[in-house]
Amino acid sequence: MAALCGVRVGQLLGLLALLFGPVKALEPISVGIAIAAASALTGYLSSPDFYCGRLVECCRDGQPLNATALEADLRDKLFGQHLAHKTISRALTGFMGNPSPKKPLVLSLHGWTGTGKNFVSKIIAENVHKLGMKSKFVHLFVTTAHFPHDNQIRLYKDQLHSWIKGNVTNCPRSLFIFDEMDKMHPELLDAIKPFLDYYESLDGVSYRKAVFLFLSNAGGDLITRQTLDFWKAGKSREDLQLKDFENVLSIGMFNNINSGFWHSSLIDKNLIDFFVPFLPLELKHVKMCVLAEMKERGFVPDEDVAVRVANEMTYYPKDLNLFSDKGCKTVPVKLDFYL
Ligand SMILES: *[C@@H]1O[C@H](CO)[C@@H](O)[C@H](O)[C@H]1NC(C)=O
Ligand SMILES: *[C@@H]1O[C@H](CO)[C@@H](O)[C@H](O)[C@H]1NC(C)=O
Repeated sequence: MAALCGVRVGQLLGLLALLFGPVKALEPISVGIAIAAASALTGYLSSPDFYCGRLVECCRDGQPLNATALEADLRDKLFGQHLAHKTISRALTGFMGNPSPKKPLVLSLHGWTGTGKNFVSKIIAENVHKLGMKSKFVHLFVTTAHFPHDNQIRLYKDQLHSWIKGNVTNCPRSLFIFDEMDKMHPELLDAIKPFLDYYESLDGVSYRKAVFLFLSNAGGDLITRQTLDFWKAGKSREDLQLKDFENVLSIGMFNNINSGFWHSSLIDKNLIDFFVPFLPLELKHVKMCVLAEMKERGFVPDEDVAVRVANEMTYYPKDLNLFSDKGCKTVPVKLDFYL
């Protein structure tokens, strides 16, 4: 990087000499201005303001998150998830604004397919690193794709360990997203655990500024049941609070034999900062997804199309037809058909 900037700055100084060189009789004051301008320019050209984003992607450190932008993204793109919205907005803004956090931020996102877990991860990635999921500081691991074979767990463990270490060494504000956590081998989870803890450093590397997102369907049934009970009691969905789920989630899943995740001491040791429930989506939310998707693609949002796409989804439970069984997941594909 320094070498690259050096070349550019050198060329620029040459150009300035060419421009000002022949003029021998410049008054000192304009020479002074020229020198000041040139040094300001070279200072600028070698400063992160100039090359970061233009020439290379730089690791962010120090700048707090733009809370307004994050809020706007969550408001305009995520529907029916008031708890996820509030929790993520607060947790992430607070964490990124803290110059010396005591532990990495660990969020565990739970809910059925299509409720917005991957979608929110993308929004988080874009707000933490400008290039979002394409950023070299954002790392996505999907259990069934990256760690498919149980007999290679030892290899995966070594790889994961060295990747996390290497990437956090390069950029303390690295973001790691683990999808399909409920399918992850417990041993692999054990390999990640030390990074999530309160240690000041491990082998000279501090992980305290990193962000870890765990995505899983685990607890989706409990979240649905809770939301449905609320609805049946005639209460407003927006009145559901985090505390209505927190215990259900941590205790409920701890006892679930199929989620290896919960056998580990993640919960015991309180390494997860927030359990974030993603509620099942109703028809009106699916409609909002359709309208947002149309806008995103440059079409005029059309209520009629939104109704038709939303009506194509299947809803459960069968007697109530309340929640979309794929959330908003198939909205883009279904919309193709109408546009
Ligand atoms: C934060 O984001 C808002 C909305 O996108 C934008 O208008 C504002 O300029 C941003 N602020 C900073 C400091 O970048
Ligand atoms: C960072 O993580 C990626 C996987 O996302 C890996 O391929 C790469 O080798 C890691 N970098 C370092 C320096 O460890």
